[in-house]
Amino acid sequence: MKSLPHLFENNRRWAEGLRAENPAFFEELSHQQAPGYLWIGCSDSRVPATQLVGLAPGEMFVHRNVANVVVHTDLNCLSVVQYAVEVLGVRHIIVCGHYGCGGVQAALRGTRLGLIDNWLRHVQDVIQRHAPLLEGIADEARRSDRLCELNVIEQVFNVGQTTVVESAWARGQELTLHGWVYSLENGLLRDLRLTASSTRELYDGYRAAIQPER
Ligand code: CO
Repeated sequence: MKSLPHLFENNRRWAEGLRAENPAFFEELSHQQAPGYLWIGCSDSRVPATQLVGLAPGEMFVHRNVANVVVHTDLNCLSVVQYAVEVLGVRHIIVCGHYGCGGVQAALRGTRLGLIDNWLRHVQDVIQRHAPLLEGIADEARRSDRLCELNVIEQVFNVGQTTVVESAWARGQELTLHGWVYSLENGLLRDLRLTASSTRELYDGYRAAIQPER
């Protein structure tokens, strides 16, 4: 293997490290996965989902796309949600955005980047929905930050309205949705307090979360 040898070397050391702690680690994990969480986050290379919450392989199912968008016609994302909820039985779905998201900023500024503009149209829908709130924020950086938060809130709401989650709640399955945002500047997560274990909590939490800032 001649290509990207440093990555193979890193991989060998990583596997050795895990085996040093538990010689049967990979053997045990190969038989099943039973993650407790589904993470829906941004593809940004600076937001390493599993690492930043200190979880090990096997503990979190992950879906990432640009600007952590959940669209009802996205078969990819919906399939991940369905498999995570109905087959793996995750107890928590975390939608995590991040401040300084390039996708969110491009949507806000109307920057033309190519094909991806069509995907980011979904973030522009969020901007339109919350135009008065966003226009009321004079500081540009703060407006961008607030849009990153609003985008998470809207995507949590979208997750809660999928047929998969509605059906899970209807049959009494224990499943909680969370909306978080990550700071690239200090590596810390912030809970946006839109936490919902039922349709009622989703609607109430959504209404509270989209209020203008105190
Ligand atoms: Co991003």
